[in-house]
Amino acid sequence: MALPPLPAFPASRPRRLRRDAFTRALVREHHLHASDLILPVFVHDGHDRVQDVPSMPGVQRLSIDRLMGLAEQCVQLGVPVIALFPVIDSALKTPDGREATNPDGLVPRTVRALKANFPQLGVLCDVALDPFTSHGQDGLLDETGYILNDATVAVLTKQALVQADAGVDIVAPSDMMDGRIGAIRGALEGAGHIHTRIMAYSAKYASAFYGPFRDAVGSAANLGKSDKKAYQMDPGNSDEALREVGLDIAEGADMVMVKPGMPYLDIVRRVKDEFRVPTFAYQVSGEYAMLKAAAANGWLDGDAVMMESLLAFKRAGADGVLTYFALDAARKLKQG
Ligand code: PBG
Repeated sequence: MALPPLPAFPASRPRRLRRDAFTRALVREHHLHASDLILPVFVHDGHDRVQDVPSMPGVQRLSIDRLMGLAEQCVQLGVPVIALFPVIDSALKTPDGREATNPDGLVPRTVRALKANFPQLGVLCDVALDPFTSHGQDGLLDETGYILNDATVAVLTKQALVQADAGVDIVAPSDMMDGRIGAIRGALEGAGHIHTRIMAYSAKYASAFYGPFRDAVGSAANLGKSDKKAYQMDPGNSDEALREVGLDIAEGADMVMVKPGMPYLDIVRRVKDEFRVPTFAYQVSGEYAMLKAAAANGWLDGDAVMMESLLAFKRAGADGVLTYFALDAARKLKQG
């Protein structure tokens, strides 16, 4: 009995599918779209006021009137959501961060202006106290400097309600206090804000990659040598991320987030596989600064690493990415 002939060497040629652009496009598993992107922006008071953020080349602090131009670009390029981060006048910062609950504060005014001019653009607000506290922490401190959980949650709940009253579409608690998603969801429902979406910063790590952001909102100097390790997660943990995400979903989160992004893609994958809910990743300020700095030195091709890094989030299982590159990437996608 004759044996079937052995296949000619090599038995398999995976390179066939990489031979030309049309085949690569045909078999590509993951794609980046402008609709995957959320643009974080820094807003400050004043008129026609623009300030560069030195540690984030290409990123600026903008007054509300100047922010409108950026919002218009989001609409034109198909970036669906803008995420607001306030730069609060230091005279308004207090130990209890009470400016965070001012219904006429910078954030509610910005939300109203954006929704009046661009109703089709989604607006997301961070819920956390660090832009508003004189010590730069995300919550209220006891006499030892420990961040009080339940007292902080009470303020965060008020902050979220003020944002919802102003018309925000998505509230995004970024503080990592226990129980805050449940408290905020209950308060929103109680106030009739049944459509307000919650994107929970569920697995948020105590990361050194937030450095440039803290420069941008002006909390770095106030924080000084203190850190956020007693509430943000330890970078050594992964199972704990699943526990945090599970709690936030049970408490009423619509969407969850992993942060930072690139060094934590394993967490994105585990969260997506375990829960199958809309999962986002935040490519944070330090990741942006790193790529920008290398590109400025001519060490990396800036556009190429921007697109590759964003596609990697999709491959890891993210449904979308918060990124300071959102407009640049959307422009590049449009060019094809
Ligand atoms: C505030 C907040 C931070 C970021 C988003 N929301 C900083 C922090 O937790 O210290 C970081 C974003 C970035 O680095 O781009 N709680």
